[in-house]
Amino acid sequence: MDSKTWQINQATLMLLILSWTLCSGLTVDPPEDLAIIDPGHLGVLQIQWSPPNSLSNITDCQKIFQMEYFNTYRNKWTAIQTAKTTYSAQFDLTKEVRVRVSTLLRGPCTNGSLVKSTNYTEHIQKPASTGFVGTPVQDFICVFHMMEYIQCNWKRSPEQPRNSLHTLYFWHMELGQTEECPKYIISNGVRNGCNFTRNFLPDFTDINFCVNGSSPEGPLKPTFISLQIQNHVKPAAAKTLNLQAGPYRQLELCWESPVGRVPEHCLEWEVEHNQEGPEGKHLLQQYFTKQMSLTQPTTQDTKRNCFRVRSKLHKYCADRGFWSDWSHSTCYPEEKIFLKPGWDAAAVSAHAAVAIIILLLLLLCVGAVFSIWRSRRVKKLDCVCAKKPVVTVMEA
Ligand SMILES: *[C@@H]1O[C@H](CO)[C@@H](O)[C@H](O)[C@H]1NC(C)=O
Ligand SMILES: *[C@@H]1O[C@H](CO)[C@@H](O)[C@H](O)[C@H]1NC(C)=O
Ligand SMILES: *[C@@H]1O[C@H](CO)[C@@H](O)[C@H](O)[C@H]1NC(C)=O
Repeated sequence: MDSKTWQINQATLMLLILSWTLCSGLTVDPPEDLAIIDPGHLGVLQIQWSPPNSLSNITDCQKIFQMEYFNTYRNKWTAIQTAKTTYSAQFDLTKEVRVRVSTLLRGPCTNGSLVKSTNYTEHIQKPASTGFVGTPVQDFICVFHMMEYIQCNWKRSPEQPRNSLHTLYFWHMELGQTEECPKYIISNGVRNGCNFTRNFLPDFTDINFCVNGSSPEGPLKPTFISLQIQNHVKPAAAKTLNLQAGPYRQLELCWESPVGRVPEHCLEWEVEHNQEGPEGKHLLQQYFTKQMSLTQPTTQDTKRNCFRVRSKLHKYCADRGFWSDWSHSTCYPEEKIFLKPGWDAAAVSAHAAVAIIILLLLLLCVGAVFSIWRSRRVKKLDCVCAKKPVVTVMEA
């Protein structure tokens, strides 16, 4: 396109716009009275506006509104079109709230085409950040354990003033007002989490949380989080694993679904197979399955096969979730009790501790008996483990 045709085209366009405006006498103004109302639902704001006064006489055209807001969770603008004059959206209240609304007109008055106001009405709301001390809490995480109870945890920020006290508030659609945490989790004397029983929080709906608090130096900087609990499920670890040798050098592994309320059909499994070969070499393999059994061929030179499993909600039941803890390992053949990976370290140390204590007590008793026997003085002994027999022996 050469510059001449471009100029002509531009002129035609100007003429068209001019003639259209002249003929209809119609300029589309942006909406008026744009307001943002905070009902106190920890981030859900109600945006409302009214149609421009200049269009109040127009009745043969449909007025539509285009509302754009800066989505602080996605870090980009989100736009919606609506015939209503109100809209609710979720905002992070620690950030600036920015909203723009334009008017759209369509119908006989515009000859059927869609005409948008050349400008928009804008509203910018700064976060109420004055007077807060410290920085927000860190690593806020909620886990829906076994679909039975929800535990949310956070970490204090290093800049927190001493003697500050955190509070957690939450809100969802079924609540009229925000509520405070029903049961705080306290560790080392400070609140760092909250426990909810199952019926406290509904699934498939946004739940807004706010962790704020007070300190001798003033209110703490709040944190806002919005989530849906079905995406935070952590199933229990599988309990019973059965491993047996099948025909053709195969190993048959099966397990039971974990305790809790997670529906079995929602689980996918990861199976870890540890093959111990000659010279203590280990070969680790992972399998993913929706079944609760696995048949695995073994090779001639494998000395030992160990399996453990863990589970997670699959994508047809939730967008995401947490892996359960690993089950205990089950091995074939089952030998080597103390080195068995399934043998829990805590159990081993507990057994060892008990054995050592018993041994020490025995030594103590033997020592006491021996010293008494040497001094040949018969007197009442105060030995903890075998008082009566020792005394009897000495008296005899
Ligand atoms: C507007 O509508 C009138 C009557 O229906 C028609 O004659 C005219 O050509 C239309 N103008 C445009 C720009 O479409
Ligand atoms: C459009 O609207 C904004 C805010 O409502 C205003 O600041 C700006 O000057 C307007 N622009 C024009 C071209 O009218
Ligand atoms: C924390 O937030 C709740 C809910 O918005 C509010 O009622 C409470 O006053 C706040 N507490 C502090 C110390 O700011």
